[in-house]
Amino acid sequence: MLKERIRQLHLPPFPQSRPQALDTLLREEYGYLPPKPVSMSWEELETNPRFCAGKAPLKKVQLNCLLPSGRSFAFPVYCAVPADGKAHPAFLHINFRTSLPDMYQPSEELCDNGYAVFTFCYNDVTRDNGDFTDGLAGVLFENGERRADTDCGKIAMWAWAASRVMDYICTLPEIIHDRVSVIGHSRLGKTALLAGATDERFFCAISNDSGCSGAAVTRQKQGETVKDIVDRFPYWFCKNYYKYAGRESEMPFDQHWLIGAIAPRYAYVCSAAEDLWADPESEHLACVAAGEVYGEGGFVTCDRPPRAGDIFHGGRIGYHLRAGLHFLSREDWLNYISFLGRKL
Ligand code: GCU
Repeated sequence: MLKERIRQLHLPPFPQSRPQALDTLLREEYGYLPPKPVSMSWEELETNPRFCAGKAPLKKVQLNCLLPSGRSFAFPVYCAVPADGKAHPAFLHINFRTSLPDMYQPSEELCDNGYAVFTFCYNDVTRDNGDFTDGLAGVLFENGERRADTDCGKIAMWAWAASRVMDYICTLPEIIHDRVSVIGHSRLGKTALLAGATDERFFCAISNDSGCSGAAVTRQKQGETVKDIVDRFPYWFCKNYYKYAGRESEMPFDQHWLIGAIAPRYAYVCSAAEDLWADPESEHLACVAAGEVYGEGGFVTCDRPPRAGDIFHGGRIGYHLRAGLHFLSREDWLNYISFLGRKL
């Protein structure tokens, strides 16, 4: 049944190589990521020793990046590492807010389960609006310089920032560097998938309710379409993407390529049953199609559209469909912990 559904979508086949897939996604959708810094430094700004009852003190660290252009850019990251002297796997949570505790991040529960948690606020990198003079965008497009058609949109800038946090994490002996999973919700779920696809150091990339231009196949998608998203949020993408509004069938790629570009590393897609704007069925279909890129055991699911309560943790792509609304909930995190626990 699902094979037939996929056949009807006429999805463009995944290219011969992952770099080819990634290059198309960057050129046509998100824009090429900013260049890596030539050097980085960091400074601890604050510590809260009482965070998580003192079990995982919270540090605010500023990451300073010197770009090849000679200009610098800095942003803060918040780090909670269990203080038991052991080495830990970690989550890198790209979030909407800086203040902790946060409704999308159950820090204490994550730390109690043995994870360190690093988080930054996307608005501290560049604000979520069309202002390209703000933050990292202002550093990249100096003096309001025009964005070329393949230059990065803001999702690519937030993904770049996730890689800078990874640069920092890789210097910390208390973290198991090859067990760091990047996660985000909604627009930041799109960002987490892109970070996972562009940076092979991530163990797993987790998309929570990312929908259109994230984890959902675009062809025959319900809810939000490319036209909807580029009309409201053109600045998330590169300008090349705008031409696909209303012309989804002409896209030389589809979103299963984004998940496929993470292979053979782990990917996880979560949908919420009432989140019809994101479209759970199209997110599930993207996992099915990406599973073929992973090969045997890539995505282990059942042969029908997903139902609330379904959990598929058997393959390299994890999936669950939670009851309820668009939200990054505790139940979602417990599923991520459970999936990663099987794979770590
Ligand atoms: C809007 C947008 C979605 C996005 C969501 C979010 O609904 O249309 O594409 O995922 O915002 O980030 O919450």
